[in-house]
Amino acid sequence: MTKTNSSPLAPLACIILAAGQGTRMRSTLPKVLHPVANAPMIEHVLAAAAELLPEQIAVVIAPGMDTVEKAVAPHRCVIQQQPLGTGDAVKAARSVLEKFRGDIIVLFGDAPLVTAEALRNLQRKRIESGAAIVVAGFSPTDQAPYGRLIVESGQLTAIVEAADATEAQRAIRLCNGGIMLFADGKLWPLLDKLRDDNAKHEFYLTDCVKLAKAGGHICVVAEMPADEVLGVNTRVELAEAERLMQNRLRRAAMLNGATMIDPATVYLSADTRIGQDVVIGPNVVFGPGVEISNKAEIRAFCHIEQAKVEEGALIGPYARLRPGTIVGGGAHIGNFVELKNTEVGRGAKINHLSYIGDATVGSKANIGAGTITCNYDGFRKHHTSIGAEAFVGSNSALVAPVSVGDGAYVGAGSVITMDVPANTLAVARGRQSNLDDWAKRFREEQAERKK
Ligand code: UD1
Ligand code: MG
Repeated sequence: MTKTNSSPLAPLACIILAAGQGTRMRSTLPKVLHPVANAPMIEHVLAAAAELLPEQIAVVIAPGMDTVEKAVAPHRCVIQQQPLGTGDAVKAARSVLEKFRGDIIVLFGDAPLVTAEALRNLQRKRIESGAAIVVAGFSPTDQAPYGRLIVESGQLTAIVEAADATEAQRAIRLCNGGIMLFADGKLWPLLDKLRDDNAKHEFYLTDCVKLAKAGGHICVVAEMPADEVLGVNTRVELAEAERLMQNRLRRAAMLNGATMIDPATVYLSADTRIGQDVVIGPNVVFGPGVEISNKAEIRAFCHIEQAKVEEGALIGPYARLRPGTIVGGGAHIGNFVELKNTEVGRGAKINHLSYIGDATVGSKANIGAGTITCNYDGFRKHHTSIGAEAFVGSNSALVAPVSVGDGAYVGAGSVITMDVPANTLAVARGRQSNLDDWAKRFREEQAERKK
């Protein structure tokens, strides 16, 4: 994600609502922990908020949401005892934010596409207009579920929830995106005045607007793109959020200097780091924790997670880099090669059909087709060390713990169970015997039998 480290426009605190049960996800996992681009939804919201350098962030959760509390640490969680509405949820944060002086932005943990720029825009709008409340407005294609924004002479006078709206109000296109900014000192007194005399018998945060207006305060709308306020309620919307997030990540990677031959088929994680002049082929998946340095090439159909690929390395097609892998500069990792917890030195080659796990491979080593590190004895994992410029012949099994020294050779088809000293040839396989004319005799015998 692109980060801008500008200084805060004004002192800020954020409240992120995440106490909803998310029943429509039909899941035992709390909704805000469902991942988008391999990070829990709420992490995206926290990241956008954190970019504005708020003095405090409070996350509102329901009782028993310990997993959410862990996921958002070290940010503070507060508990809303019962789901009595968004206004009631914000009240739960009062105990930790009451002394805070400055803007308070309320946002939702299940709307992962919000950007720091959109939040900054709310603050800007508040400074320009002197408003008590700034509401993020948007014009959805289907406004059915949203609160409608009632705007008169450029000022927001009320938000009417869909369930409470008249037919004329329902026709209003401009809707509440759910993010609201409250100017210094305005939030808590308004919350005290909220009533639940509405269709849902909830305390609506949105009612703060008409209460502010009644108290002589100005409220305004800051419009933002519909994509950024997308809320996730079902797994269908989760997939839509994923699609939008992937597009955003791909675009950022390309603008940063990576070529993607078919971007729509490349899947990134929120934390994927890709350098300049990197070329990525079609159908490549980047799991979490991946860093690709400049000028590396990732060919089609690779799957990479928690791994680092250094400058100018060539990966794939069809390679799998698993956690703990570091591929050194200019190294080649070819088709159907799986690496796990392995450090491959500069310029080394592992080009075909290998599994190398829990190993170090020295620079310029050549690992022949079909080489396997036998790293697991059914109980523990063991290390294999292969030296610089070593040459391991095809179809060798290296039974760990074992080491092959610098410059050593391993004969093809060997099963290596003892260390191989540097510059040594190790051959560990049955010796070949050639039986003269055996084949000819065999054919003649068989032909005789058939008669
Ligand atoms: C809310 C807004 C609506 C807006 C829409 C945008 C209100 C009353 N309505 O409606 O104007 O158009 O979002 O998506 O605010 N939550 C709690 N505790 C609660 C209730 C909700 O923490 O008691 C959290 C939910 O987890 C969710 C967020 O607040 O993250 C919004 O709640 P939700 O029920 O989805 O509000 P909407 O009815 O969609
Ligand atoms: Mg909602």
